[in-house]
Amino acid sequence: MVSYKELGLVNTKDMFAKAIKGGYAIPAYNFNNMEQMQAIIQACVETKSPVILQVSAGARKYANQTLLRYMAQGAVEYAKELGYNIPIALHLDHGADFEICKACVDSGFSSVMIDGSHHPYEKNVEETKKVVDYAHKYDVTVEGELGVLAGIEDDVVAEHSTYTQPEEVVDFVSKTGVDSLAISIGTSHGANKFKPEQCTRNAQGILIPPPLRFDILEEIEKQLPGFPIVLHGSSSVPQDLVAVINANGGKMKDSVGIPEEQLRKAAKSAVCKINIDSDGRIAMTAAVRKVFVESPSEFDPRKYLGPARDSLMELYKAKNINVLGSANQA
Ligand code: G3H
Ligand code: 13P
Ligand code: ZN
Repeated sequence: MVSYKELGLVNTKDMFAKAIKGGYAIPAYNFNNMEQMQAIIQACVETKSPVILQVSAGARKYANQTLLRYMAQGAVEYAKELGYNIPIALHLDHGADFEICKACVDSGFSSVMIDGSHHPYEKNVEETKKVVDYAHKYDVTVEGELGVLAGIEDDVVAEHSTYTQPEEVVDFVSKTGVDSLAISIGTSHGANKFKPEQCTRNAQGILIPPPLRFDILEEIEKQLPGFPIVLHGSSSVPQDLVAVINANGGKMKDSVGIPEEQLRKAAKSAVCKINIDSDGRIAMTAAVRKVFVESPSEFDPRKYLGPARDSLMELYKAKNINVLGSANQA
């Protein structure tokens, strides 16, 4: 058993309390490798932002959970070395069951998500409560989810969103004891969040998606005043980066994300954690493709992963400053 406290990590309690009061959201960035972790920490130190490092089940499979945990421990020291001791949480993203959540609590994670959103309501309550009862013994915070996002989460694919029902949230939170609640109000996972036929085109030909359901968010806030709300699937799919990918041999068609102004508006509300993964993947892919096309004789991974890391860092800095509002809150 390793406690996150010995590793210099923090849980999300204080982060969320401050974020709700301050009208901003904590960035939750996924990482699978060293370059992503470096970019996240550099960006958050430079912008003096608290951060949640997220590990998905896919990341655990890809990189090994022990290595990822040591990297998060290293991230705490790395941030200090860079000159600013920002609060860092290590969070399990989309935990599928009690066992994976327990394994993460036991190995040094400071926060876990139990995603029971695909189960019937009563089963979701039961699984979530079981995780909360275990995690709280070790002061690990727990995120639950109500409502289903469209798109791909690991191996689970949902064709359509099922919006969170505001009339369920008080019952769910009081029965389970979760510390935060992920909701479904129109965001979704991946780079193709909306079909072109759901969007309108602006004068520049850019696809504009339907707005998020702020009416549902407001109703949830009324039901749970001051309670931390989480938005998954919050990549904006920057069109300039998609263009770089497509200009360098890529094929990302009709990729549409959540407009940044809408996320900024959400961050000013009870939404205090915003999950972003796909935008980081797009930034890295654009940079790597560009090097491959412009310097085809290059074969040193540092020559393409380095630019990918730099581009990722710039993206995260801009998110913290312009979208989440988390800059200078550490
Ligand atoms: O919500 C899903 C995240 O983007 C993680 O994706 O399972 O491919 O690591 P992944
Ligand atoms: P995106 O695919 O929009 O980046 O969402 C990531 C996410 O929700 C991770 O849990
Ligand atoms: Zn998610």
